[in-house]
Amino acid sequence: EKSGYDHYMLKEIHEQPRALRQTISGRIDPDAGSVDVEVDLPPEYIASIEEIQIVACGTSNYAGRYAAELLESTVDVRTTVEVASEYEFDGGRDPWRTLVVAVTQSGETADTLSAIRRAKRAGARTLAVTNTLGSTIVRETDDSVFIRAGPEIGVAATKTFASQVATLTLLAVHIGRERGTLPYGRAQELLDSVRQLPNAVQSVLDAEDRVREVAREYVDSDAFFFIGRQLGYPVSLEGALKLKEISYDHAEGFAAGELKHGPLALVTEETPVLALLTDGSRPKETLNNVKEVQARGAPVIGARTDAGDGSSAGAGPGGADASSYVDVDLPVPAIGDLEPLVANVYWQLFAYHVANEKGRPIDRPRNLAKSVTVE
Ligand code: M6R
Repeated sequence: EKSGYDHYMLKEIHEQPRALRQTISGRIDPDAGSVDVEVDLPPEYIASIEEIQIVACGTSNYAGRYAAELLESTVDVRTTVEVASEYEFDGGRDPWRTLVVAVTQSGETADTLSAIRRAKRAGARTLAVTNTLGSTIVRETDDSVFIRAGPEIGVAATKTFASQVATLTLLAVHIGRERGTLPYGRAQELLDSVRQLPNAVQSVLDAEDRVREVAREYVDSDAFFFIGRQLGYPVSLEGALKLKEISYDHAEGFAAGELKHGPLALVTEETPVLALLTDGSRPKETLNNVKEVQARGAPVIGARTDAGDGSSAGAGPGGADASSYVDVDLPVPAIGDLEPLVANVYWQLFAYHVANEKGRPIDRPRNLAKSVTVE
């Protein structure tokens, strides 16, 4: 069933282009700049939304954070993201005008279910974004949107993260267009980025041999730090979660600008820094943080927007000289807002190959369950 792959995780990483095509299929009308995610949110309701609150755990929470960045700019509504286990509903005078969105692959995560129950009791409208038809979350929310990634067996969420972000991007465009806050041209840009995703992800998968070599080179490091800004920040958190979950190595994700406020003290020659330097992640500013860690001797693995010649060396975001500050330069196809999501596939492959070098039980990491049904 693993189709020749050693682990479900690797199979699922490689399934991403197909999963993303399924996610997108039939949902985009490029000429109209519109989207149909088969959700029953009436236009009057969409117009009346005052706040969006996203609740989710783990990887789904990071997908929510990615989406929140996009939602705030497309929908022009205050959007918050909370770890479901910390969530308390606070919905102002008319709770129904707060749309509470639960992002959950399984649809069975206890913390997320209880957050949704709290929101419902307080009178909010609830929406599930999930991979699982017939799951508890679908029964308990007012509306659901399916990410259509197909079944995921590996405990580490991979293809479902990509499909969650793609689905939430489509939802953001839908709500933004309905509210009249998202201009046609910007909707087109976002939808183009979504449509280019499957091929862009494939180009990263085609570079797997390179990532395996890099993983072998750094496998014995003391710790791994992931840095990024804006859309690159949730991807940094996700990259670190994936690595710690399956390799048992110490890994942390930081907002790049926060390094100098403390974490920089941990940086040595033995702590590789994986930096998100693509469009959508403020690469110029992050390059300054890359220089800070390089000055402390840390090896830097950078994911950067492809300058157009098939490699990310030379000119391009991050400045013409960016390549001289990274030890490993990984090219990401130029597709706009979703470039950090494409770069995430490098982080997935890196985590996989580090864990594989160490002989970890990748599909069944110790102490963890695929679906966490206790609070
Ligand atoms: O099924 P869910 O999306 O609600 O699960 C949430 C988290 O438990 C899950 O994403 C977890 O963090 C993954 N094992 C991460 O790889």
